[in-house]
This record gives sequence, C-alpha cells and structure tokens, in this order.
Amino acid sequence: MIRIQSFIASAALPYLNALATLRITVFKEFPYLYNGSMEYETQYLQTFFNAPQSIIVIAFDGDKVVGASTGLPLAYETPNLQAPWQQLGFDVGRIFYFSESVLLQPYRGQGIGKQFFTVREAWATSISNFQYLTFCAVVRPLDHPQKPVNYQPLDTFWQQRGFEKKEHCITNMSWQDLDETFPTPKPMQFWWKEIGE
Ligand SMILES: CC(C)(COP(=O)(O)OP(=O)(O)OC[C@H]1O[C@@H](n2cnc3c(N)ncnc32)[C@H](O)[C@@H]1OP(=O)(O)O)[C@@H](O)C(=O)NCCC(=O)NCCS
Repeated sequence: MIRIQSFIASAALPYLNALATLRITVFKEFPYLYNGSMEYETQYLQTFFNAPQSIIVIAFDGDKVVGASTGLPLAYETPNLQAPWQQLGFDVGRIFYFSESVLLQPYRGQGIGKQFFTVREAWATSISNFQYLTFCAVVRPLDHPQKPVNYQPLDTFWQQRGFEKKEHCITNMSWQDLDETFPTPKPMQFWWKEIGE
C-alpha cells in the first residue's frame, strides 16, 4: 500500500538523502539522462526547505521513499525560470511552479503521478491567489540516440491534467548528461494551466 504525504518546506528535511537519491535514479532515464551528484542535489533541495509555501509530496512504500513531487511559488525560483515569464509580461508573483515529479519504475501506472498533480494544485490554490501553474520539461530531438524504442512522451499525461504548452516560453537548464564530460544547456519548454483570475 502506497502512502502519499505532503511536507511543507523544512518539514521534509529528514528525507533529504532519500529525495536526492530518488532524483538521481529517475533522472538518469531518458529524456533527462542526468548524471547527478549527491553534492549538487543536496544544494538544489535546499531551495524547497527554505522557500515559504513550498510543498514536497512524498510517496512511501512502507518506510521507503519511492516517489516525490515538488512545487513552490515561482518567485522563489532561479532567474532563468522567472525570466521567460517576465519577458512575456507576466507577474511571477501569481505563478506557482511545479518543479518535478519522480517515481520509481515499478510504481508507475497506479495513479500516483496523478495524485502528485492534484495535491500540489490543491496546495497552490489554498495558499494564495495564484493565477497560473507552470512546469517545464526538457526538449530532446525526436531521433535522439538514447531514446528507448518504447519511450512514451508525457504530453498526454500533462494535457489530461489540464496543462498545455506555453508558446514562446522556453528557458535553458544546464546539467551533465551521462555521456557528457561537462554540463551543457538543455532547452526546457514551459507548460501552463490557469487556476484563477
Ligand atoms: C511522471 C510520472 C511521475 C507519472 O507517474 P505515474 O504514477 O506513472 O502516472 P499515473 O499512473 O498517475 O498516470 C498515468 C496516466 O497518464 C497516461 N500517460 C501518458 N503518457 C504517459 C507516460 N509516458 N508515462 C506514464 N503515464 C502516461 C497513462 O496512460 C495514465 O492515464 P490513464 O490512467 O488514463 O490510463 C512518472 O512517469 C515518472 O516518474 N516519470 C519519470 C520522470 C519524469 O519524466 N517526470 C516528469 C518531469 S519532472
């Protein structure tokens, strides 16, 4: 039986190592191909522990962390995530950002990913008058050599959650792919959903 529990900001600190390990494990897969390190992850996760109104949703199988999903007001995110919205004339103070959803393979297809979206949206709706939810996803070439033959894009999953691609809203994030020797920038497409006026 999987248990889903939400933690606000520093309440998730006891799970730091588990969350870091989970991100490294899942983001090794296509399309992320991320060659992660505990050092970077520990630093990255501080953003959520420090940001007021951040949410860390964790899926537990017994005591084991098998999935997680995070979100925070976009205003607490890095400038590269805020800039595309500012350039389009949006008030970042009214946007809540979904940072990631990661679930170990054996636990997929049971509705946990859907719960990650429902719980984060309910939190964003409850804490402030956010107008939009957003997240971004890496764009890889369709003929990428590392793409598994059975790879299924998540576009349908996101559309079913009410999100659509935000045209002309793209940023870059840098990380080191498994087959790279140094970090390179990757294009990240934003998706969005209106939740208020
Ligand atoms: C995103 C993720 C958390 C979804 O979790 P999940 O628990 O398998 O998703 P759910 O079971 O709640 O829902 C899956 C639904 O989306 C549909 N779907 C569409 N494309 C899909 C895909 N590529 N993978 C999984 N489900 C997909 C399924 O058919 C299902 O719909 P249905 O119930 O109507 O049949 C999981 O796939 C994952 O960890 N992926 C790797 C990391 C990643 O890419 N994260 C997103 C970027 S941060």
